[in-house]
This record gives sequence, structure tokens and C-alpha cells, in this order.
Amino acid sequence: MDYKQVTEMGLLIETHIELERQGPGSLETTVKALNFLDNPSKFSRVADIACGTGGQTMVLARNIAGNIIGIDISPDFIEVFNNNAKKLNLHERVKGIVGSMDVLSFEKEEFDLIWSEGAIDNIGFEKGISYWRDFLKRAGYIAVSCPSWIADEYPDEVDKFWVDAGSSLDTVGHNVKIMQKAGYSFIAAFTLPEKDWFDGYFIPRTETEKAILKKYAGNKMVEDYIASSRQEVDLYSNYKQHYGYVFYIGKKI
Ligand SMILES: C[S@@+](CC[C@H](N)C(=O)[O-])C[C@H]1O[C@@H](n2cnc3c(N)ncnc32)[C@H](O)[C@@H]1O
Repeated sequence: MDYKQVTEMGLLIETHIELERQGPGSLETTVKALNFLDNPSKFSRVADIACGTGGQTMVLARNIAGNIIGIDISPDFIEVFNNNAKKLNLHERVKGIVGSMDVLSFEKEEFDLIWSEGAIDNIGFEKGISYWRDFLKRAGYIAVSCPSWIADEYPDEVDKFWVDAGSSLDTVGHNVKIMQKAGYSFIAAFTLPEKDWFDGYFIPRTETEKAILKKYAGNKMVEDYIASSRQEVDLYSNYKQHYGYVFYIGKKI
């Protein structure tokens, strides 16, 4: 990237594109969520919304024989996604396309499963699960992870961070009610372990950031961007008993 053309979006892509995941998660957690579904190996059509470069999609593909379509707003992530599918010889049935999660160009009742890790809060939990429900077959499943309050105190510092980031955290109980009201039966909810934040995301991201700081040495915008990314790590370290990523799994009624 040219020194003079650094933008916040460019930095976001550059600090995440080589990571296996672009948010907290792990192979074990993806498999754990998948294990709540009946007969996933029989699903014929699955969507992974906001798939990033596809870390979790490739795990799904090893457990599901059908076709999986990944959708992400970033063409750079989708290019890596499709290269990864090819390298793993999954490209015949795993494809990434560029698109936005709030304007899906699919048929109604097309999917057996809609998956989305770490992204539904971009449009809001309620809006996302209500809108995506139309694209699920009857008795199809939804499985999404997103940041949520996991204790009864809601520290202002955490609240402000997530509101500034464009998301607002809700409690697990409230999200489950939203899910039921939207027309799903509730199957399960569980909190991602701390290691999914550190081993799965923060540690590899911090390594990449060190290299990027060197590459753009003296660039104030890059330094500020990375300082705020480090604040996110401190915030989670200080308040991990109050909030976390929670996986929510439901079945369309
Ligand atoms: C936290 S990352 C999670 C990526 C991946 N699911 C994972 O867990 O590694 C959020 C993803 O949402 C994508 N995204 C953000 N807004 C989007 C939108 N409106 N439509 C589709 N994807 C979006 C970003 O490009 C990014 O890949």
C-alpha cells in the first residue's frame, strides 16, 4: 500500500487479511455450535454471512457435504476466501461473493442454515435475524455469534466502546427473547472462551500490527489506529467477566 494512501478501511483490511479469523473464534467453537444442529451433514445449501476470509467457513465445509456460499462486503477478503477454498480443494462447493448482509440477493427459503460469526451487530441482532429468516427453509437453522453482556453490571467504558464501534450490547436473555419473537425456537446459547479472543484473534492481530507499525513508521494515523486496537485488547482483559461473544442458535418455526 502506498504510504500516502493509508485509510482506516485500508488498515482494517491490512491488519486482518492474513489472519485465519477476523474476529474472536476458533475451530472448536465453530464445531461446538454445529453440534447443536440435527444432521448438518445432510444440509444442501448454507450461507455464511460476513464470512471474512473464511476461517469458520472451511470448518463448516469439512462437516457439511452441501454447497456453502460466503458473503462479505470486502472484495479483498472474498479474494482470499476463494483462494483458500481452492487451496483446500473445496472450491467446487464453497464460493465467496461480495455483498452486503442487509441486501441479500437470494431466493426466499433457499438455505438449510445461515451462519454468521462476529458480524450481525453491524446491522443489529434483531434486524439481522428477522431479515435473514426469510431466506431459511422451514425448520432451517440460524447460528450467529456477537458481543453481548454476560453479567448483571454494564460498565460505561465497555458500553461506550461498543456504541462508538457501531454496536450496542444486549443481554443474552434479551437476545434469546428477540430470537423467539422473530419466529425461531431457541436451541442454545453459549459464551466463547477467553482463548478464542486471545489465541484466535488478539495475539495474531498484535503480531501483524507490529509489522505494520514498522512498515508505516512515523505515520500518525497508523499509530493512532493501532493504539485504539490495543485499547480493545485492554478493555476485554479488564472487563471479560462482563461481556463476551455469545453464540446463539435457533431453528425457524
Ligand atoms: C469481525 S469480522 C468477522 C469475520 C468472520 N466471520 C470471522 O469470524 O472471522 C466482521 C466481518 O463483517 C464484514 N462486514 C462488515 N459489514 C458488512 C456488511 N454490511 N455486509 C457484509 N459483510 C460485512 C467485514 O468485512 C468482516 O469480514
